Amino acid sequence: MLEIEIKEGNKLNQDELNIINYWRKKEFNSDTEWNETNKKSFYDDIVFLLKNGEEILAFGRLRPISVYKEEEKLDIWGIATIVSTERGKGYGKELMRAIRKYIEKNKKTSIGFCGEKNTVFYEKCGFGILKDGQKHFVYVDDSDKLQFEQGDVFYLKGYDNLADLLLKDDKSVFKHYVPHW
Ligand SMILES: CC(C)(COP(=O)(O)OP(=O)(O)OC[C@H]1O[C@@H](n2cnc3c(N)ncnc32)[C@H](O)[C@@H]1OP(=O)(O)O)[C@@H](O)C(=O)NCCC(=O)NCCS
Repeated sequence: MLEIEIKEGNKLNQDELNIINYWRKKEFNSDTEWNETNKKSFYDDIVFLLKNGEEILAFGRLRPISVYKEEEKLDIWGIATIVSTERGKGYGKELMRAIRKYIEKNKKTSIGFCGEKNTVFYEKCGFGILKDGQKHFVYVDDSDKLQFEQGDVFYLKGYDNLADLLLKDDKSVFKHYVPHW
């Protein structure tokens, strides 16, 4: 039976971490592992696991992220690390259904970045799409350099006006300090 487990990053067990790390490396070429020494990168996140018994079929997370527009700070969720371990069987959609439900209940603006090849998937999962929307989010690195990336944004609106602002003001730019969320 398929079930969704929702847990904080710090509650993941070693078997779960092993699977997640395997797929992060495979899909995103990630060069860091989620482990004790790397806690900051995932401990506070809300992790969604689609399971069949103990087997993980898909997973993803919501990361607490602060974005800044001039003096204004908004606390949002970054939608990240979405992986389906077997494609084309509806596991990704099932996972995103759970993530969407969680976001809608908490009314927190949530933003994810994706390459064009995955945009339709998120659209089919009920998320809003901003074509070329990554230009609205700039990463400020350790030496205060601004790093822009290209790609689409998928989102759900929360209690703040961030999404509306992006929809009506094409020039809005939000700074953040989390690389590749
Ligand atoms: C993107 C990903 C999570 C989709 O998972 P999946 O389990 O294959 O997706 P599903 O089977 O649930 O597909 C749901 C719907 O989206 C469609 N879909 C899935 N991937 C698609 C794609 N890349 N392009 C267009 N449509 C897509 C399916 O055809 C299906 O449509 P339907 O509801 O009309 O039948 C999966 O391909 C994956 O893990 N990719 C590698 C990691 C990655 O790139 N993650 C995204 C980072 S932004």
